[in-house]
Amino acid sequence: MKAKELKKRYLDFFRKKGHIIVPSAPLIPKNDSTVLFTNAGMHPLVEFLAGQPHPEGKRLASVQKCMRTQDIEEVGDNRHITFFEMLGNWSLGDYFKKEAIEWSFEFLTKELKLPLDRLAVTCFKGDKDAPKDDESAEIWIKLGVPKERIAFLGKKDNWWGPVGETGPCGPDTEMFYWVSDAKAPKKFDPQDENWVEIWNDVFMQYNKQKDGTFRSLKQKNVDTGLGVERVAMILQKKKTVFDTELFQPIFKKLNSLATEKLNDENIFSYRVMADHLRAAVFIMGDERGVAPSNVDQGYILRRYIRRTIRHGKKVGMPAGFCEPVVDIIFGMYKEDYPILDEKKDFIISELRNEEEKFERTLEKGLKEFEKMAKEGDVSGVDAFLLFQSYGFPLEMTEEMADENNISVDVEGFLEEFKKHQELSRLGAEKKFKGGLADLSPETTKLHTATHLLNEALRKVVSPNIKQKGSNITPERLRFDFNFDRKLTSEEIKKVEDEVNRLIKSAIPVERKEMTKKEAEKLGAQMEFGQKYPEKVSVYFIGEYSKEFCGGPHVENTKDLGKFHIQKEESSAAGVRRIKAVLKDEPRS
Ligand code: ALA
Repeated sequence: MKAKELKKRYLDFFRKKGHIIVPSAPLIPKNDSTVLFTNAGMHPLVEFLAGQPHPEGKRLASVQKCMRTQDIEEVGDNRHITFFEMLGNWSLGDYFKKEAIEWSFEFLTKELKLPLDRLAVTCFKGDKDAPKDDESAEIWIKLGVPKERIAFLGKKDNWWGPVGETGPCGPDTEMFYWVSDAKAPKKFDPQDENWVEIWNDVFMQYNKQKDGTFRSLKQKNVDTGLGVERVAMILQKKKTVFDTELFQPIFKKLNSLATEKLNDENIFSYRVMADHLRAAVFIMGDERGVAPSNVDQGYILRRYIRRTIRHGKKVGMPAGFCEPVVDIIFGMYKEDYPILDEKKDFIISELRNEEEKFERTLEKGLKEFEKMAKEGDVSGVDAFLLFQSYGFPLEMTEEMADENNISVDVEGFLEEFKKHQELSRLGAEKKFKGGLADLSPETTKLHTATHLLNEALRKVVSPNIKQKGSNITPERLRFDFNFDRKLTSEEIKKVEDEVNRLIKSAIPVERKEMTKKEAEKLGAQMEFGQKYPEKVSVYFIGEYSKEFCGGPHVENTKDLGKFHIQKEESSAAGVRRIKAVLKDEPRS
């Protein structure tokens, strides 16, 4: 079965079980303070898992664009990919273990017709935070899974989330499929690599706190996820995801362009190029797409493109080889993601720019590296020189060192790096360590303040202002909007005063659900370029503001404290950026 058919069958199946299909959220999350990319289908649903009502109801399913960047060095082996699509179904305080497991089982064995004698499952073995999950095991046994095909494992294997340090999480039960041609052994050994994980049902009922403890969530949820590429591989009886129709056309194109044709020795390079170009297309071609840069998502993108170009060099790719390959990727995905078509010109021109930029330093950098390699291991200073002067990301130098059986002094590099106060890679890595979708009172307040600021700008500065982006951390809000000049200090002061006036007016905040059409008719504000589901929630701040928004918000503007704009600056051509904070107001 092809991936397209798999996606369709999955959504049809869960639609029949009462689920509403929600569109994929952007790959680049809204509040990107903690993670750079949406890395699971649950990621855009965190608020709703935490108890905020979802306008489409309690049963949802989706195909979500996802990216997992932690293992960039491993991409190229036969298992790891960065960009992937995740199928998922959710219960937001509705059904729980019984239905979730029964439906997973039904989909795998009836719809996909996977034989039971090749299936095995794991369940949570219990610890101080949560009890052993006998309940799930009993359900599996009732469905016909033999006892010896059920393994109980600890947190490392059978617990999912939170995405960052804090947030919704819980024990899970994972399904495995025996991929070897040989008969599956009676007893399930999770260590045996022939057992490949295909689906994860998470019972999300805890909220991990900053202090590391687990509190019960308001509601018991189900969060499931199965990777399209991996399931397609299993259904097609292929050995790797690269052997499926999701990668083969890309390989074919690469092969036709290279002077060194695909073989067992250079397959690693082919996989790197295919994976990274796919990822690059989706990062640039996202609703919140970015160009290559030295920070955050832009730096991940830059590393992907540069790594692709270096591997391209190894197999004799001509200059500008990325574009024809990217064309193939468009063809494969533009039907499911029309946004790719809209962004095509941007993607192609940014890709060309980056290729040209890197081509200019790559040759020289490679020569420099060769000299270094002759001397033995690469020192921190040298690795930094390659980074600074030739634009070689650290892992590229590490990879080249590896190919030459030498090592790189990473610590030394980081020291140099710190000295030069470059934030790029470090900045990006720090992002993975925080907690996703912080639902703290501070964030909630800033969220409401953002709506007030959005309206105040239109009222005080120009009625044509529209939100272009927003980013909230517990410390501050950041708001991007279209405007073609710097705001004057009087304007800034007026906007501040206006927001503070609204706060003082103690306006109630109200949430209403309606169809997208109704909301548009009401003139509710929406973020430019966003795709919204058929049914949406709209937040009203009295008569003053109406905005498409998932929430959460405070109940009344009086809870916000004092609003202060810290900075107003340019963010991109025609886009301004405001950073603002809320200060506690002494109660009178
Ligand atoms: N969120 C779970 C996962 O990504 C389903 O595995």
